[in-house]
Amino acid sequence: ADFDLLIRGGTCVTAADTFSADVAIKDGVIAATGRELGSADKEIDASGLLVMPGGIDSHVHLAQPSASGTPQMADGFETGTRSAIAGGTTTVIPFAQQPRGVGLRETLESYHEKARGQAYCDYGFHLIITDPTPQVLGQELPALVKDGYTSFKVFMTYDDMVLNDRELLEVFDCAKDCKALVMVHCEGYDAIRFMTERLERQGKTEPYYHGVSRPQIVEREAAHRAISHAQLIDVPIMIVHVSGREAMEQIRWAQQKGIKIFGETCTQYIALTADDMKGFNMDGSGSKYVCSPPPRDHESWDAIWEGIRGGVFQTFSSDHCPFFYDGPQGKMTGKAKASFRWVPNGLPGVENRMQVFFSEGVSKGRITLNEFVALTSTNHAKMYGLYPKKGSIAPGFDADIVLWDPNREEVITQSAMHHAADYTPYEGQKIKGWPVMTLLRGKKVCEEGKITGEVGDGTFLKRDYSAFVS
Ligand code: URP
Ligand code: ZN
Ligand code: ZN
Ligand code: ZN
Repeated sequence: ADFDLLIRGGTCVTAADTFSADVAIKDGVIAATGRELGSADKEIDASGLLVMPGGIDSHVHLAQPSASGTPQMADGFETGTRSAIAGGTTTVIPFAQQPRGVGLRETLESYHEKARGQAYCDYGFHLIITDPTPQVLGQELPALVKDGYTSFKVFMTYDDMVLNDRELLEVFDCAKDCKALVMVHCEGYDAIRFMTERLERQGKTEPYYHGVSRPQIVEREAAHRAISHAQLIDVPIMIVHVSGREAMEQIRWAQQKGIKIFGETCTQYIALTADDMKGFNMDGSGSKYVCSPPPRDHESWDAIWEGIRGGVFQTFSSDHCPFFYDGPQGKMTGKAKASFRWVPNGLPGVENRMQVFFSEGVSKGRITLNEFVALTSTNHAKMYGLYPKKGSIAPGFDADIVLWDPNREEVITQSAMHHAADYTPYEGQKIKGWPVMTLLRGKKVCEEGKITGEVGDGTFLKRDYSAFVS
């Protein structure tokens, strides 16, 4: 036969176009799109379905170690990437977090060890720089950027990760020199510590007060500070997991002034609110929703949609950062009962990202199909140096494809999830639009929620420079 596989009769969607076409695949790559393409060993009938590029989730945490005495992350590479493909995502970019005092090569090697042969989908790594010594910024990081680790994240809060302003400037300067893209976690460390200690003195220690301890003002201040530092150095940065109007407006302001600032938002900021963190008095279930920045309110959802529709945000990610709720590794074990300060921050969501975004975005008429593809796949590929290998339906691209039923109605429920966590924060969400089949480089890896791929199908991706950094 001419091809290995032919996907027939579907509606192809890219970031730019929507068109009826068959898709021919050979050796894991899209060989042609169109009509009457030739013969194939296998065929898939996609009539009534959308044929879209597999999702790329550029903000995922897997197998990151926790401080001793605090819960371990629920997902490693096996269960996290299994959950990804079940949700239509074929590439994830998790983080390799530098422990202070440890070199970057050593850090990366330990993450490669955790991932090698364990992934169901393709993956890359962003570094997290916690210890920007002259050795790290002068030698290690530039060499690693050349080796295909072209983006890294820095934090403006958290005891074990926070960088001060001088360190941020040094890191930004290094990124400029080596053409890397810096992702910045914008929340102000001192303000959060002040608020946390005051709340604790007042006995306000339940999970709900996690949100009170880091209001939007704290996020906005840090976003503005990061933007100013980036402008000073003249380097593009990506402000990740923007939660509401305040930080969104800072990014929009910068963009309107011509400062090169990019923005990311996430599922929790269009689907959850601060009120979800109430619930301690019954069973502690509020902790299920504790993440940073915290979920806000309905007005914030509107502001996030405004930013999505207005082009302020380039990428829509999950920030999948899963913990168990019950049991000895649960979110409310140990010190967490005494204060929200000790509740691990993060939510599982890699499987639900495209479902919730499609349902709330496309099905409710807020965004087009093409915007959906741009925000869940194409822009991630361009932003993080995977384009033109990933992120579109066109000849030469990897045949990473999700077949999507735009009319299918489902309800998200933990019993159908493929992650290792014991809950989903999106439990009970009504969804219209659902992935029915996922292909990774031409191989069917999930069908109707059943995993047909094998662990080890996923390969490591060396990445190019960001197309947005020039
Ligand atoms: O609460 C969150 N988002 N935890 C993950 C770490 C981060 O800051 O992205
Ligand atoms: Zn053949
Ligand atoms: Zn973060
Ligand atoms: Zn994160």
